[in-house]
Amino acid sequence: MRKMLMLVISFLAVNAMAQSLHRFPDGWDKDMESKIERVLEQLTLQEKVALCHAQSKFSSAGVPRLGIPENWMTDGPHGIRPEVLWDEWDQASWTNDSCIAFPALTCLAATWNEHMSQIYGKAIGEEARYRNKNVLLGPGVNIYRTPLNGRNFEYMGEDPFLASRMVVPYIKGVQSNGVAACVKHFALNNQEINRHGVNVIVDDRTLYEIYLPAFKASVQEGGAWAIMGAYNKYRNQYCCHNDYLLNDILRKEWGFDGVVVSDWGGVMDTREAALYGLDMEFGTWTDGLTEGLSNAYDSYYLAQPFLKMLQSGELSEDVVNEKARNILRLIYRTNLNPHRPLGSFGTEEHALVGRQIAEEGIVLLKNDKKTLPFNISIGTHILVVGENAIKPMTVGGGSSSLKAKYEVSPLDGIKARVGDNAKVTFARGYVGDVLTVQDGLRSSTDLSDNRSKEELISEAVSAAKDADVVIFVGGLNKSSGQDSESNDRASLGLPYGQDDLIEALVKANSNLLVVNISGNAVSMPWVKSVPAILQGWFLGTEAGNALASVIFGDTNPSGKLPFSFYAQLDDNGAHALNAYPGGDDVEYKEGLFVGYRWLDKHNIKPLFSFGHGLSYTSFSFGKAIADKKTMQIDDTIEFKVSVKNTGSVAGAEVIQLYVEDVKSSLPRPIKELKSFRKVWLEPGEEQVVSMTLSKEDLSFFDDIKHEWVAEPGDFIAHIGNSSTNIKSKVRFVLE
Ligand code: BGC
Repeated sequence: MRKMLMLVISFLAVNAMAQSLHRFPDGWDKDMESKIERVLEQLTLQEKVALCHAQSKFSSAGVPRLGIPENWMTDGPHGIRPEVLWDEWDQASWTNDSCIAFPALTCLAATWNEHMSQIYGKAIGEEARYRNKNVLLGPGVNIYRTPLNGRNFEYMGEDPFLASRMVVPYIKGVQSNGVAACVKHFALNNQEINRHGVNVIVDDRTLYEIYLPAFKASVQEGGAWAIMGAYNKYRNQYCCHNDYLLNDILRKEWGFDGVVVSDWGGVMDTREAALYGLDMEFGTWTDGLTEGLSNAYDSYYLAQPFLKMLQSGELSEDVVNEKARNILRLIYRTNLNPHRPLGSFGTEEHALVGRQIAEEGIVLLKNDKKTLPFNISIGTHILVVGENAIKPMTVGGGSSSLKAKYEVSPLDGIKARVGDNAKVTFARGYVGDVLTVQDGLRSSTDLSDNRSKEELISEAVSAAKDADVVIFVGGLNKSSGQDSESNDRASLGLPYGQDDLIEALVKANSNLLVVNISGNAVSMPWVKSVPAILQGWFLGTEAGNALASVIFGDTNPSGKLPFSFYAQLDDNGAHALNAYPGGDDVEYKEGLFVGYRWLDKHNIKPLFSFGHGLSYTSFSFGKAIADKKTMQIDDTIEFKVSVKNTGSVAGAEVIQLYVEDVKSSLPRPIKELKSFRKVWLEPGEEQVVSMTLSKEDLSFFDDIKHEWVAEPGDFIAHIGNSSTNIKSKVRFVLE
């Protein structure tokens, strides 16, 4: 009954959102360009320059004389950041800015469901709109190169195709509110260590095939109105003013007509910022604005120093006109758009959207002997162990830290779900980080505990012996050195002695579920002895309810990993080649072979594969067939495969198609994801799934010709439900 009710509520909420997806009337912006030119003619040089730099931590000036509104930005990417003081990172202590925290983007990517991206984007865009923000600093699509990157949780995994498919609907959803999505961090920001200085060395093929596709899709398919430059350098030039990335690729090759926003403090030089593609400078001297004149914003690189160069003729006025044009276009699309909706904030509908995404993104990694879902009856004793069962996770992590309207902890979610039907007790198990203030946000939960590791383990173990079921909730957290900005993780292992605790728990009670809360892969030395493992991500406001829903079987899990889990760090290419974190330079020596591409090449068995995720039901796959044996270059080829739910509960499966180029003039990964479909099947139901490839899906980037090339010859489509669980292979020829 309860399950039915929840399904109906979430169906109604999501349906209402899908139906009300706002579309602006066709052609509403047809006069925009001529209006922009008319405004531009009226602006003084000073007014044009004022558009190009911040006036506070998160805002930039409009043109007050003409009624052109200011720009107000907000982080992103999984909730609306609370207000900060004008010149400081410190909180402004407003009481109307507590948002709905949505699941972090790794969880969204793990749904492998583009519809989830669309409702996510629409809902977070509504929150931004209501808070009068016209630019959302997100989504993030930097590729997961190493599991140590502290910011992987803000991104969409290791595969350029998956990230591209998932980012487009998010952007469209956000922008349907008249709020710009600002896709970040362009480009090659794949580590936090030395992020402000490191120069990335990567070959053009790898750049185009691995690190750029999600940005390109954001621009060309998502129609993103803004993009944020990265902190790091590429070709020894800062990415916030990088001639090759911003002028050649973004503007000329991709036709981007939005604004390029700097990362906060990412601008280093006036001349470069003027000439190499940047439009808006933010966050320079982020530490208290001590430099410069009485109003330090006047000293920004794109403020007085820029004005002087324009006045002296060192720079032509065309340079600032181009930037002003882009910025006015942003303002027209957002704050001056007469059709934009009003937005809404902190609503139950948004919380339900977050919950649905969380439930769909949770990944069932292991489930021996059908340990899950747990069946409970009156008198069942459930022991919950672990700091992450009680630690708020919407706070921390850096710029994405949130002041959530509420957050249901895993422990509270489990208690609420079982109600009086079972006894739930808690043991701390380990003490991790007990900080109460992070990123200017005070947590209301007091986590202090002075007991020794031995005392904590011994308490948990003796409680486990008395319990029917043990649920360990651990993993990483949002503290520095974990899943957090500015720093990377020190190792792949779980911190705070959790491995010892898990081994002790499973010896005491083998009916153990481990829930790993993280945005990154972790090693699991105990994987063989623990029967059930869930990947829990950072799930936001409704975290505990979503987890409980999966644990007790109200939701049948259907999430799939958006990145590989490695048995050990050296199974990852960047680490195997000692190509991380580098010093002044970091060379991406593994090239194209990121994630499963490396594992495939070296025949390394991952702990859990990219694309892996179990269900409470079972699926059988028929033999895949193609509609032709030979595909002409301008044609497409269609694959069909039947999938049947052979178990006793309804569930969803993700059918994944990977392409192998059998013989190629350049080295290529053994296989690459090029299509996927998620299907929902009732028990016994069978569906034929169709997936189509075109020449783009068969191409590689030829860096000598500087173009995408599909080479005639043999290809194989690998169709399965993870990168290592291939159910059928279909060979075909490209003519
Ligand atoms: C982060 C960005 C963020 C900005 C504003 C920077 O440190 O890298 O992702 O949007 O701060 O908070």
